[in-house]
Amino acid sequence: MRVLERLDELYAIGGGAGANRPHGSPAEDDAHRLAASWLVDAGLEVEVDRHGNLFGHARSPRSAEEVSDAVSENCWAGSHLDTVPQGGRFDGALGVVAAIEAVERVGIGSVVVFRGEEVGCIGSRALVAAGDPLPRMFLELHVEQGPVLAERDAPVGVVTGIVGYARAELVLEGRAGHAGTTPMAGREDALVAAAAEIQRVRDAALAIDGAVATVGQVEVEPGGSNVIPSRVRLSLDVRAPDARRLDALIASIGFEPGYRVEPAQFTGAAPQMFRDVVAARDLPLVELASGAGHDAGILASAGVDAAMLFVRSLNGGVSHSPDELSSDEDVALAIDVLADALAATTR
Ligand code: GLV
Ligand code: MN
Ligand code: MN
Repeated sequence: MRVLERLDELYAIGGGAGANRPHGSPAEDDAHRLAASWLVDAGLEVEVDRHGNLFGHARSPRSAEEVSDAVSENCWAGSHLDTVPQGGRFDGALGVVAAIEAVERVGIGSVVVFRGEEVGCIGSRALVAAGDPLPRMFLELHVEQGPVLAERDAPVGVVTGIVGYARAELVLEGRAGHAGTTPMAGREDALVAAAAEIQRVRDAALAIDGAVATVGQVEVEPGGSNVIPSRVRLSLDVRAPDARRLDALIASIGFEPGYRVEPAQFTGAAPQMFRDVVAARDLPLVELASGAGHDAGILASAGVDAAMLFVRSLNGGVSHSPDELSSDEDVALAIDVLADALAATTR
């Protein structure tokens, strides 16, 4: 299947274990170039916006008046090509290759490839903030990144909404000193303070139903094995299903977010199209919320009728890991559902 070959080609970019195409890296650029060549092969009109997001527009055979009335001419499908370090084969990439298949197959709509989704949806947020023209509908196919669909024996699921999240940097200051000659009493070890801070972050999340908090990066200065740490930088990622709980989590930890993305709900005609296609194909209808952030959430918050279709994740739903896995059959079926939904935008 061409989609699987394309996922392999993307996976090989950047090298090393897993997918390595972090935002702003030559690997993300290479992935965008490769996707642009597939858009050309699909006969789509290629465009790169001023934020670096890539588009492939179906050339409409219809008249200008018909086009101005048609939702389909203004329906985008896509996802992102940047990854976390040592990420999975499917996160983002699947939504892009699937959108190319679907738009090529039905001959309507546009493929969009957003920049920097993993670092706070940089591309979609820039587009929304700049007031650039937005589509009337946005469809994003994505791996579930969790175990729900496998547990419910469902190949695909329709997403109801996305958690809100905030990110920040926490800095702890200490005093450098010799690891052998400085007595334990009276040390100001920034890493010991950071350890307590990480535990505090975890406890804050545990105290709020549905909340999560993660420290994923620790930078220690000066970084010598025989030097007491003088400064530690921690990354902080906190999430909650609604704004009230996100506020409470941020207040409990006590930090100023570097940026914050509000929770989003998918309530328009677009998710209904996915539900209708799932029913028409006699598939079980499973609706579920997303604990991961997605560009579809940014567009929904900006008023776009957005929807997401999840594909069943295997391996317990692991994601942001090279162990991320979905079956070839589920991938093929999900692309059929996406194409059907895209085709339904003309009706
Ligand atoms: C994006 O994958 C996120 O961090 O939710
Ligand atoms: Mn993703
Ligand atoms: Mn991701």
